[in-house]
Amino acid sequence: MKKFFKGLLYLVLAVVVLIGCFVAYIAIDGIPKYEAATVEKKIEVTPEKVAIGAKIAAVQCVVCHRGSDGKLSGRKLSELPPEFGEIYSANITQSKTAGIANWTDGELYYLLRTGCKPDGQYIPVYMPKFPHMSESDMEGVIAWLRSDNAEVQASEIAKVPSKPSMLVKFLSHVAFKKIPLNAEPINAPDTNNLPAYGRYLVAGRYDCYPCHSADFKTLNMEFPEKTPGYCGGGNMMVNLNGNQIFTANLTADDATGIGTWTEEDFRKALHEGVNKEGKSLRDPMLRYNGLTNQEVKAIFTYLRSVPVIKNKVDRQWDKDL
Ligand code: HEC
Ligand code: HEC
Repeated sequence: MKKFFKGLLYLVLAVVVLIGCFVAYIAIDGIPKYEAATVEKKIEVTPEKVAIGAKIAAVQCVVCHRGSDGKLSGRKLSELPPEFGEIYSANITQSKTAGIANWTDGELYYLLRTGCKPDGQYIPVYMPKFPHMSESDMEGVIAWLRSDNAEVQASEIAKVPSKPSMLVKFLSHVAFKKIPLNAEPINAPDTNNLPAYGRYLVAGRYDCYPCHSADFKTLNMEFPEKTPGYCGGGNMMVNLNGNQIFTANLTADDATGIGTWTEEDFRKALHEGVNKEGKSLRDPMLRYNGLTNQEVKAIFTYLRSVPVIKNKVDRQWDKDL
C-alpha cells in the first residue's frame, strides 16, 4: 500500500512538473513565429483602387488603428476583453521609421491574408485576417495605405508593444494558427447573386461575423461558418465607457434574432444606428453609412439563409452603458 501511494505521489509530481514546463515554455515562447513566404506584388495606386480601399478601410482598419493624432498611428485597444491582455495596434502610416513605408506590397498582402509579419511573427486574434477578401478589394486597401489620404501620411508616434496575456499565448499555440496563403486568386462574387454577395460582405469584405458570433476565442477565420454560434451574437466586448456589451443575434430567429425585421429596419440599423425597437446602437457597433443599399440588401438576404440560432442576448438596455 505504502509503495502504491509513493508511486502515485511520483506520478502526480511528474504531471505537475510537466504542466509547469509547458506553462514556462508558453510564457517564454510567447506568440509563435512561422516561416513567412515572399509574395511578389506591385500594386498600382490608381484613384479607382484608392476609392475602393478607402471605403473598406473606413470600417475595417481605421477603427482599430486611428491614433491620438487622427492618423493611423495606433492606439490601445481597450474594447477587447481584458482577458486578452494589454493590446496596442500599430502605426500603419507612411513613416519610414514608425510606420510601414518600408514594407513591400507583397509583405502587406501576406500579413493581411495570413496574419504573419515579414519576420514570420504571427498576430493573434486581436488583428483580423482577410483570407476571403477579393483580390480587387485587397489591392484597394493596399493602394489606399499608399495614397495621399491624410490619415495615412507619416506619423512618428512609435508603436507601444502589446502585452498579450498567457491565455492568448496559450491559444496561439493550440487554437489561433496562421491562415494558409490562398493558392489561387480570390475572385469577387457576382453582385447579382444576393446570398453569395451577402456572404462575401459578412465574411470577406466587412467582417460582421467575428463580433457577431459566440466568442473571439473560438473564431475560425479560415472557415467562417465553422465559428461556433456563427452570427448568433452574444460575444462580450467592452465599450468606450469601459462597460461590458454583448453583440446582437443576427440570425433569423423571430424571438431572439432579427427574424421579424424588414429590410428597411435592417438598413436603418446599419445606416442610422437605430434598431427595430428604436434603440440607438452603441459602440463598438459601427455606423455603416458608407454601404450602398444593394450591399445592405445582399447582407440582409444572406443573413436570412444562415442557420437560425436561438440565443437570447441580454442587451442591457436598462443600464446606462
Ligand atoms: C480589431 C483591431 C484591428 C483591425 C480591425 C485591424 N488591425 Fe491591424 N493591427 C491590430 C493590432 C492589435 C496590431 C498589432 C499587433 C501586435 O501588437 O503585434 C496590428 C498590426 C497591423 C500591422 C503590422 C504593423 C507592424 O508594424 O507590425 C499592419 C500592417 C496592420 N495592422 C494593417 C491593418 C490593415 C490594413 C487593416 C484593415 C484592413 C487592419 N490592420 C485592421 C489591430 C487591428
Ligand atoms: C466591432 C464589433 C462589431 C462589428 C464588426 C459589427 N457589429 Fe453589429 N453590433 C455590435 C454590437 C456590440 C452590437 C450591439 C449594440 C447595442 O446593443 O447597442 C451590434 C448590433 C448590431 C445590430 C442591431 C441588432 C439588434 O437587434 O438591435 C445589427 C443589425 C448589426 N449589429 C449588424 C451588423 C452588420 C451587418 C455588421 C457588418 C457589416 C456588423 N454588425 C458588424 C458589434 C459589431
